[in-house]
Amino acid sequence: MQAHDTRSAAKRTNTLTLGQTKLRSVIRGIGSYLPVNKVSNADLEKMVDTSDDWIVQRTGIRNRHIAAEGETTSMLATHAANAALANAGLTAQDIDLVIVATSSPDYTFPSTATQVQAAIGMHHGAAFDLQAVCSGFVYAITVADKFLISGSHKRALVIGAETFSRLLDWNDRTTCVLFGDGAGAVVLEAQQGTGSVQDRGVLTTHLRSDGRHREKLYVDGGPSSTKTVGHLRMQGKDVFRHAVSMVTDVMVDAFAATNTTAADLDWFVPHQANRRIIDASAEKLGIAPEKIVVTVDQHGNTSAASIPLALATAVADGRIKPGQLVMIEAMGGGFTWGSALIRW
Ligand code: ACO
Repeated sequence: MQAHDTRSAAKRTNTLTLGQTKLRSVIRGIGSYLPVNKVSNADLEKMVDTSDDWIVQRTGIRNRHIAAEGETTSMLATHAANAALANAGLTAQDIDLVIVATSSPDYTFPSTATQVQAAIGMHHGAAFDLQAVCSGFVYAITVADKFLISGSHKRALVIGAETFSRLLDWNDRTTCVLFGDGAGAVVLEAQQGTGSVQDRGVLTTHLRSDGRHREKLYVDGGPSSTKTVGHLRMQGKDVFRHAVSMVTDVMVDAFAATNTTAADLDWFVPHQANRRIIDASAEKLGIAPEKIVVTVDQHGNTSAASIPLALATAVADGRIKPGQLVMIEAMGGGFTWGSALIRW
């Protein structure tokens, strides 16, 4: 009996010792911002040959927000960043890393992240953009996590922000009805964990890309090719066909890496591109419909901003609570795709 107690104590001590060396990137605050101008499907019916019925049936989208003239991606990002800082009870002085995931930057350079850094009054640390289109937020969370768990940085602002309205061909009904503008941000903080899946924070991340799919979803301009900004072009059916298998593959990887299953999830917060892709992915993995957070109806596809916008909505309305297990995933141009399993 005594020997058993001693062994248990040793085991507990060992766990504690290991735990003292395991850093986790914990979500400490979240915020979001949508431009004031809300555009409904009925509004779009006046601009292109489309209908509310077609858009809702094919995508689930009812509204999107469009940035005002002169309102840039960094402005949306700054609103979201300030909201996340306030939610975390922190100021810009407490942050040492800013990553902005965007494919619609204010300028070719400098980065949108440095514009945000200046706007929030942060004159130290590092700031950079990350471009992985709709997978941008999952990529940025992954990169920030690597910085934080290495011990090199203490707190990161991870922002997804887009003004895709500037990349759309407003005469092309096959794309212009799908996208919107917005921004979402989280504050990630390095905290000690025990190394178990019960820890709060980012538990595992899985990123993929395959550049052979360029022509299925791309912008037909850029500084080095056409010297123009260009317009978004998409082969919608092909994107749809790949999306479900790609995002479910990386979620299966996340479950395998953490010895968890779909049944362990409290919330599934997918990239908000299309309701049918979301439902098909959840069904394939056996994720219960009541665990899915859907906001695509209210803001359309906001690319890198869509996941933090959905997360912010579900935190604000009390669905996502500390300690709960949350899966995020996305797929986008490139193709890029990825997942992150986070204990809130
Ligand atoms: N309104 C009315 N009719 C339309 C519209 C519109 N806005 N757009 C296309 N149509 C018409 C087409 O012209 C076509 O007409 P036709 O049969 O006379 O030729 C018909 O509707 C069907 O078009 P499809 O392209 O076959 O429609 P589909 O059922 O594939 O739906 C959609 C199109 C919604 C784009 C779908 O393919 C899709 O959701 N794909 C995934 C796209 C996506 O989510 N991309 C983003 C993911 S990656 C990222 O986030 C960047």
